[in-house]
Amino acid sequence: MNTPKRYLITAALPYANGLKHIGHLAGAYLPADIYVRYLKAQKRDVVFVCGSDEHGTAIPIQATKEGTTAQAIIDKYHPIIEQNFKDLGIEFDIYHRTSDPLHHETASAFFKDLEAKGDLETKTSEQYFDEATSTFLADRYIKGTCPNCNHPEAYGDQCEKCGKSLSPEELINPVSTLSGQAPIKKETTHWYLPLNKHEDFLRQWILNDHVKDWRAAVVGQCKSWIDGGLQPRAVTRDLDWGVKVPLVSGAGKVLYVWFDAPIGYISATKQWALNNGKDWTPYWNDKETKLVHFIGKDNIVFHCIIFPIMLKLHGNILPENVPANEFMNLEGDKMSTSKGWSIEMDDFINKWIKKDNGGNGLADSLRFYLTAIAPESKDSEFTWKGFQESVNGELVSIFANFVNRTWVLMHKLCKGKVPAIHIEFLDDEDQSILISVKESKEKITELLEQYKFREAQFEVINLARLGNQYMQKKEPWILAKNMETDPNAQAKIDNTMHACLQLCANLAILINPFLPFTAKKMCYMMKVVDRMLEWENAGGFNLLKVGYSLRPPELLFRKIEDEEIEAELAQLKSNLNAKKTTMDNITPAAGPSDAKDKGLKPEIVFDDFGKIDLRVGTIIEAKKVEKADKLLQLEVDLGSERRTILSGIAMHFDPAAIVGKQVVVVANLAPRKMRGIESEGMILTAEDASGKLYFVQPTEAIAPGSRIS
Ligand code: 2FM
Ligand code: ZN
Repeated sequence: MNTPKRYLITAALPYANGLKHIGHLAGAYLPADIYVRYLKAQKRDVVFVCGSDEHGTAIPIQATKEGTTAQAIIDKYHPIIEQNFKDLGIEFDIYHRTSDPLHHETASAFFKDLEAKGDLETKTSEQYFDEATSTFLADRYIKGTCPNCNHPEAYGDQCEKCGKSLSPEELINPVSTLSGQAPIKKETTHWYLPLNKHEDFLRQWILNDHVKDWRAAVVGQCKSWIDGGLQPRAVTRDLDWGVKVPLVSGAGKVLYVWFDAPIGYISATKQWALNNGKDWTPYWNDKETKLVHFIGKDNIVFHCIIFPIMLKLHGNILPENVPANEFMNLEGDKMSTSKGWSIEMDDFINKWIKKDNGGNGLADSLRFYLTAIAPESKDSEFTWKGFQESVNGELVSIFANFVNRTWVLMHKLCKGKVPAIHIEFLDDEDQSILISVKESKEKITELLEQYKFREAQFEVINLARLGNQYMQKKEPWILAKNMETDPNAQAKIDNTMHACLQLCANLAILINPFLPFTAKKMCYMMKVVDRMLEWENAGGFNLLKVGYSLRPPELLFRKIEDEEIEAELAQLKSNLNAKKTTMDNITPAAGPSDAKDKGLKPEIVFDDFGKIDLRVGTIIEAKKVEKADKLLQLEVDLGSERRTILSGIAMHFDPAAIVGKQVVVVANLAPRKMRGIESEGMILTAEDASGKLYFVQPTEAIAPGSRIS
């Protein structure tokens, strides 16, 4: 394999619309960082770019949720995400942002170039338009029933329940999420990238040239896209947030976020070059550059089909590989920030790393476990128990244990210095540990070159395991007891400790791409500069000079305790409950509210409110529920049906006095059993400052079942 002249490594630009979780970290950023650290240790010419993806509807939608502007959202999340990456040792050469003028210029010029060369087509078609807000509705602004699974809340681009990709036209009963109204169809003109014209190129490039060196799942996804028939794809949108279409005829339109975001890799490289007095052009134009995109599997089509076509048309190099990862689930379910079922990087940092004053290797402990369960060929699963077992069982008991024993014994038996080698006493064990180091390095190198980070890290731990076995066989502490009877005991101890120390130095180099904080600590213990971590130094037993005195051992990792894991699991469950929809938060048997809870509930969007079906009902029967002081069992006429509803109002109303009264009923609340009786809805009441309850009622009697909106 020829070594490329230079490398340009990219990690998917995360949307700056909220905190990112550890699934994102494991999917793209951590493997990219491992690869880059390895390449840099190999002294290769590498630039590692990333940054915030600040366009697309994800940003204004979050702004609506937080009651602020899109600009305020990106200005809030960009620096947090950037800092989170730093705290976890993800070391980009530049963390740029697509709101930067340099990016707008770069993306505009890219679009203009393709347009001028006739590589784009325009097409006028009818698209959904919300008359109430005078806006064309981008896919995420339309909701309706999924034609595939009947989920009533599917988006115009995807149903999040069954995962099917959709176009807005496929939704049944589409509704604008901006106004809640049904949209109309209106004509609009857009620019399209005719993917269909590039099918031959894609077949040759992916299914022939890269079929062997790309991951099977990546090739498989590309193949099914190509076989499914490529269609022209719109690269502009009717929106006011994004890179403006740089043509007079494009007024009021912006580039589609997936057109501008990958160009963000180029603008980030330009900014890096400006910051460092370098030339960015060979990184994107010279065939001797190896371009690698690290992404999660949901980004495959954009990086393997659409962006490569754009790059080819624009005259740039193509990616050499796109080692996309599958997804990482959490405790048996898909990770989702919006559902509260996730571990945000920010949370982990605050709770684990900062709490320990940044010490105790917790950033590396997380990196270690995420790589140990990296979803390289199939979805994987983060469990807190697994985290604990992995850290305690491998990092603490194997890796740190070996390093610590070596240091303690070296201080105790060799006066804190690297002991000499006594060739005449070297035996097969010593020989074989040296061979193991050489072989491990070769294996790890090969695995890293093939993006097999999980196996590569496993090999490093295996080498530490061998170190423990070697020391166990040699038992220098027993030799130390035999000094008087064995005149060669010290020489044998020296040989063993020399080998263990050189092995530790090798381990520092080999673990560095995975656990950079640990490697640094080990350099400190060995009193060597970070340059020792260069890859070429691994594989030999001459890293530490004889007679060199070393520092006392540092604590590399700490054990994870059962209580910490239990607390995390409890926290996860409570996050999930806290994030449940407003509807779920309404207690079926609404009694007087907690007197202390007078504040407003968190803001909801129109959509949330729209989920609640409120109807007028007439109470036709009411009685007390046995052995339940607070509950009344009501029979309520809802027009077309009769419902049994349990309500926690027995202390406030006389059953006989409320028969005939009209009330407001939450009619689509999931049924809930209380005292063996199923309650099929909920009655709304209001409570005054004294705690007295009132029914919420229409001002005049109206037909039961009437809709309230
Ligand atoms: O899926 C995402 O989070 C996108 N923001 C990734 C963009 S990658 C690249 F194209 F910029
Ligand atoms: Zn569906």
